[in-house]
Amino acid sequence: MFTIKVPATSANLGPGFDTLGLALQLYLEVKVKMFPGSSRISFFVDGEEYQEEILGHNLVYQAMKKVFAEAAAEAPGLELTIDSSIPAGKGLGSSAAAIVAGLYAANEILEKEFAQEDLIKWAVEMEGHADNVVPAVAGGLTTAMLYNENVYYQQFPFPEELKLVVAVPDIQISTDESRQLLPKKIDFMDMVNNLQRASYLLASLIKRDFRHLSAAMDDAIFQPRRKQLIPGFDQVFSHALESGALGVALSGSGSSIIAFCQQEERRVAEAMQAAFAASGVQSQLMILTTDPDGVKVLK
Ligand code: HSE
Repeated sequence: MFTIKVPATSANLGPGFDTLGLALQLYLEVKVKMFPGSSRISFFVDGEEYQEEILGHNLVYQAMKKVFAEAAAEAPGLELTIDSSIPAGKGLGSSAAAIVAGLYAANEILEKEFAQEDLIKWAVEMEGHADNVVPAVAGGLTTAMLYNENVYYQQFPFPEELKLVVAVPDIQISTDESRQLLPKKIDFMDMVNNLQRASYLLASLIKRDFRHLSAAMDDAIFQPRRKQLIPGFDQVFSHALESGALGVALSGSGSSIIAFCQQEERRVAEAMQAAFAASGVQSQLMILTTDPDGVKVLK
C-alpha cells in the first residue's frame, strides 16, 4: 500500500498566464492498495464508492489508464481511496492534482517505468496547460514553457515569509468557460506590460524584494475579462490591498482570489470576505503557505 500526495496550485499569479504557478499546502491524497491476481478496480471518493459507469469521468482513473496504456500493461486489482481538500472549480488546481496523482500512482505500481518528464508531458496534454501541473509536480514557485511539444520548467523556493490568503467564493467556474472570455488577439502594449510585470514578479520573488509586488501582479489582459464571472472582484482586490496585502491575483481561471501578505494576513482575509459578502457572495477563507516539494509517494 502507498499514498500519493499532491498539492493544490495557484496559476498565473496575475500577468504570468499559462506560465507562473505556485504550490500550496492543501492536498489531494490517493491511497492505493494492490490486489495482484484480481482485475477489479474500486474507487472511493470522500468515503463513497464511485460507480463503475462514471469511473471514466474521474481524472485520477483516466490518468492511471493512460500510464498503463503507454506501458502496454494490465493494471492489477486496485482499491483507491481519494481524499481531497482542494475545492473543485475554484482555480486551485484540483484537476491538475488529480491528473498528477493518477499518473504517479500508476507509475509507482509499474515500479517507476517512466521518467518524470514523460509524466509531466502527459499531464500537460491532459490538462491543456502547464502552469498548474508543474508546481503540483515540483512544488514551490515555478515557471513553465512549452516548446516544440516539450515542457521545460524552472522551480524556485517561494519566500516562506509570505503568507497566502485565499478567498474561495461560492462560485464554480470551469476553466473552459473562463478561457472562452479571453481575446484571440491582444493589444501590443498590453502584451508588453504583462511581459514586463511577469518577469519583474518572478525576479522579485526570487530576490525576496517585495516592494512592488502589487504593480507586478497587475494583469492588463486576462483578469479584466474574467472578472465578469465574479461579483465583487474589484472590491475584493482593493480591500485586500488597503488592508495590507502586498499583491493580489485571480487564482488560475478563478473563482478564488489569492493575496500575498507579509503581515496582517488575518485582517486581509477578513477584508476580502467582507468585500465578497457586500456583493452577496459567500466565501471561505484559507491562510496557507507554499508547499516546497510537490508530489510525494508515501509508503
Ligand atoms: N492558466 C490557466 C488559465 C490555469 O488561466 O486558464 C487554469 O486554472
